[in-house]
Amino acid sequence: MYDFNTCPDRRNAGSYKYQDMIMRNPAVPEGIIPLSVADMEFKNAPEIAEGLSEYLKNTVLGYTAPSEGFLDGIADWLYRRHSYKIDKKWVSVSDGVVPAIGDLIRSTTKEGDGIIILSPVYYPFKKSIVRNKRVVVEIDLINDGKNYTIDFDAFEKAAADENNKLIIFCNPHNPVGRVWTREELKRVYDICVSNGIFIIDDEIHNDLIMPGYQHTVMACVDKDAGKHMAVCIAPSKSFNLAGLQTSAVIIEDQEIKRAFERSRGLGYRGVVNMLGMEACRIAYTRCEKWLDECIEVIHGNAEYLKNFMNENFPEVVVYPLEGTYLIWCDFNAWGMDNKALEEFMTKEALLFTDEGYLFGESGNGFERFNLACPRYVIEDALNRLREARSKKQ
Ligand SMILES: Cc1ncc(COP(=O)(O)O)c(C=O)c1O
Repeated sequence: MYDFNTCPDRRNAGSYKYQDMIMRNPAVPEGIIPLSVADMEFKNAPEIAEGLSEYLKNTVLGYTAPSEGFLDGIADWLYRRHSYKIDKKWVSVSDGVVPAIGDLIRSTTKEGDGIIILSPVYYPFKKSIVRNKRVVVEIDLINDGKNYTIDFDAFEKAAADENNKLIIFCNPHNPVGRVWTREELKRVYDICVSNGIFIIDDEIHNDLIMPGYQHTVMACVDKDAGKHMAVCIAPSKSFNLAGLQTSAVIIEDQEIKRAFERSRGLGYRGVVNMLGMEACRIAYTRCEKWLDECIEVIHGNAEYLKNFMNENFPEVVVYPLEGTYLIWCDFNAWGMDNKALEEFMTKEALLFTDEGYLFGESGNGFERFNLACPRYVIEDALNRLREARSKKQ
């Protein structure tokens, strides 16, 4: 059994999550743990530090290309965990999924092209499109008050518009927590292929699947599906290695792969952090048990939050956490606008989540809670919420 009860003290350790909390409320007392930025408040798997120490003893820290061991680690992991069989020559390494998305946008579209996203969605998608002078084509997911589905009519219409060339698809979906079914993915894929839309399949959360759900890598929906997409993976979420900024992009179409690598080269970002690659190899080869236990803890936290809300605030809609460790809650029943809700959360409840409006207009009035932390952190946060709300009423 691994330790998922110790919450490491990151307050003065340069953690973005803590810095963001202190910026939003400089008066926040010691001991408050934020639930925003998507990294974990757990100790890393001990195998990571052990493996990296061993590696450091025996290596030279020069410019380093992806090793065969690293590429084998990725290929074996994807096959074992996701039944996704790849050829190692399809793998490109990148210094993060978000940078890779920017490079892919530049290598598969030109300025002014339309790029489809399904909102509410991880906000750097939109920023990457805008920064690269492409056009954001935002299609809202359908929210039936219990869960989200894809608006296939709107999507099909957007895909048929010849100005639109690319979709950035989040699989599983941050922030709504959906693990798309194989049927949904196949439908998205079929629409894309018949309209010549290339797919960026962001699978950064794909190892974090809750009990009872089955994840499908988009490239597995059809025999040749991989030829129409770039699949982005990373150990950053699953094993809490985001600070090492190492990810991989799997591109079967070798021409697009070369264009992607040229786009990376334009920023002279050809070399990837060798410690990141080694940590990735260690995670994929030695830390699967840690991940399985971690998923159980996250699932338990999700159940706890859902029950707490049902008992205390039945008007708040908690969406099912099918995957990721980010749970999506609708507070619109409280009748506050975005500003009032954020003020209440950060100043009165001392609760620091990612505000729903960040993810698009359809996220107004929502909050995204990060559940990758010891249970007591969630308990304390929800008790603060109950207390602050009772003072308000
Ligand atoms: C869907 C999604 N993609 C990408 C990232 C970040 O990727 P990276 O840190 O590798 O750039 C996140 C982080 O929260 C995410 O949720």
